[in-house]
Amino acid sequence: MGQNPSHHGKTLDIGNVGISGEDLPPFEAGPIDLHKWFDSDAVETPRGERALELEIGSGKGTFLVNQAAACPQTDYIGIEYAKAYWRHAADRCRRHGLTNVRLVHTEAAYFVRNYVGDGVLRQVHVYFPDPWPKSRHHKRRLIQASFLRELHRVLEPTGAVRLATDHSGYFQWMLDHANEVSDLFEQEPFESPDAAGDGELVGTNFERKYRREGRPFHATVLRKRPA
Ligand SMILES: C[S@@+](CC[C@H](N)C(=O)[O-])C[C@H]1O[C@@H](n2cnc3c(N)ncnc32)[C@H](O)[C@@H]1O
Repeated sequence: MGQNPSHHGKTLDIGNVGISGEDLPPFEAGPIDLHKWFDSDAVETPRGERALELEIGSGKGTFLVNQAAACPQTDYIGIEYAKAYWRHAADRCRRHGLTNVRLVHTEAAYFVRNYVGDGVLRQVHVYFPDPWPKSRHHKRRLIQASFLRELHRVLEPTGAVRLATDHSGYFQWMLDHANEVSDLFEQEPFESPDAAGDGELVGTNFERKYRREGRPFHATVLRKRPA
């Protein structure tokens, strides 16, 4: 926590939005009560009854800033493993006065596996994940059938994973891996979240950059099938 200059000399303050990997308890201790990360006096609905959502790969935090402001009744946890982006995004959410965002500096699959309890997330947002285009790097892709099984575990009974990418090869890969777990999820058409501006799919930095380059986008929703 606390202040640190960015490489542009601007002071970044992650306030109580940013949670560093070192602040997490030992993973052997089991899942965290994530609702406790949020102040309970700032909201009308008790925290434990509020929806909790996760964004993986928050980058500079554009989605979180807009989505959390548009949906004050939902709590958002962003995961970002690039330290400079994490600090930038946490500082940005703090400056916007958002009490319903926490940003964790850690690796997303590790975080989900070790710290997220069963059935606690309403939605998981994954927008423009790194495509790892070379075949020998495909195993590094975040979306894999095994990870989808893990996301299924942490979702509420009818929760959803929301996926968007500009990379058609990775999109096909996502669909193939979703097919491997079709007993767990059904595919739905993608509807834009509140964070998206006019004519936008999701409204992240990468979307805006790729849109200027005229790239096509692909998106889908994987809805958890009722048990
Ligand atoms: C291509 S960028 C997209 C950022 C943002 N979602 C957007 O659309 O502007 C992917 C981001 O995900 C982060 N990332 C990739 N894999 C991750 C993982 N396993 N855990 C946490 N962060 C990850 C990267 O550091 C990077 O900031």
